[in-house]
Amino acid sequence: MKFPLTRMRRLRKSPEVRSIIQETRLNKDDLIQPIFIKEGLKNDIKEPIKTMPDEYRYSIDDGVLFGKKLEEKGLKSAIIFGMPITSTKDKLGSPAYDKNGIAQKTIRKLKEETNLLVISDVCLCQYTNHGHCGVLGEDKVLNDKTLKYLSKVAVSHAESGADIVAPSDMMDGRVLAIREGLDKNGFEDVLIMSYSAKYASSFYYPFRDAVSSTPSFGDRKTYQMDPSNAREAIREAELDLTEGADILMIKPALAYLDIIKALRDNFNLPIATYNVSGEYSMLKNGIEQGYLTEDVIMETLISIKRAGADLIISHFTKDVLNKL
Ligand code: PBG
Ligand code: ZN
Repeated sequence: MKFPLTRMRRLRKSPEVRSIIQETRLNKDDLIQPIFIKEGLKNDIKEPIKTMPDEYRYSIDDGVLFGKKLEEKGLKSAIIFGMPITSTKDKLGSPAYDKNGIAQKTIRKLKEETNLLVISDVCLCQYTNHGHCGVLGEDKVLNDKTLKYLSKVAVSHAESGADIVAPSDMMDGRVLAIREGLDKNGFEDVLIMSYSAKYASSFYYPFRDAVSSTPSFGDRKTYQMDPSNAREAIREAELDLTEGADILMIKPALAYLDIIKALRDNFNLPIATYNVSGEYSMLKNGIEQGYLTEDVIMETLISIKRAGADLIISHFTKDVLNKL
C-alpha cells in the first residue's frame, strides 16, 4: 500500500500515539553508573576530573554516599574503579588484589550500606607502576603470566562481596582463568561480565586522566582490538562464551553500534556496552558550551539500546535516572 492510503505521519500525530508505538524504551535497570574511588582522599572533598565535567573522584565514604543517593533515584547497579596511592603501585599490580585494597574496601562498604548490585572492574592498569593491563616481560605484556593475577583480583573482589566481576584487560583466556579461580573459592554464583570486544580506542582518554592509568610506554594495541575489525569481535565473544562469560560487553559504544548489533544478532547472552568517558565528555562539553541541548543524552542512550544493548554502563546514568 502506498500514499495516499499509507500515511506515516498518522503514527506521529500526537504524543499519545507516539508513546504507544515507541519501539525502544530506556529503563532504570538498563543503566550502570561508574564510580571512581581514590585512596587517601578526605571525606567531603570530591575531586573534579578536568576532562570529565560533572564526574568526580570520591573517598570511600563519599563514593558510597553517591551510590546511595543514586539508589534512591532508582539506580540498580554500579561499577567500581579504584585508584590506589601512587607510591603503592608496583610491577605486578599488587594493590589490585590486596584484601584491604581500595576497590575491596569500597565493595564491602557498598554491599553493607546499599542494595546495589556491585560490579567490579578487574584489571591491573590502575595498579601497576607501568600502567599496562598485565604484567611485563622484557618488552611486552605477558599473556599467560597475567592470568593468575587477574584471577586473584577477581577472587578478592568476590570475597569482598562483588556480585559481578568485569575483566577489562583483554588477555586471552582470562575469562576461563577467572571462572576457575572463582569456582575453586566457592564463588560459583558470581557473574562474569566480560569486556569481550574492547577496542584500542582514543575515547578512553578522559578515563585515563581520571584514574592515572596511561601506560608509561607503548600503547594497548597488542591486547585491545583494532577499531577496523568487526568479525574479530565475534571471535572474541565466542571465546568468552565458551570460557564461561555470563554477559558480553562491547566497548566503546557509540563508534561501535554495529558491533553491538552484530553481537546481539549472533549471541543469546545478555549484551552490555560501555558508553565511555570520551563519549560522555564530548556531549557534556557541548551542552556546557551551549552548542547542544541536554536532549542529546537521552537520544544517545536510546540509540545504544536500539542497537541491541541490554545494559549500558554510562557516566550519564546519574543525569538521566530522574527522567526515567
Ligand atoms: C582499564 C579500563 C579503561 C576503561 C575502563 N577500564 C581504559 C583503558 O583500557 O585504557 C575506560 C572507561 C572509560 O573510558 O570510561 N582497563
Ligand atoms: Zn586495564
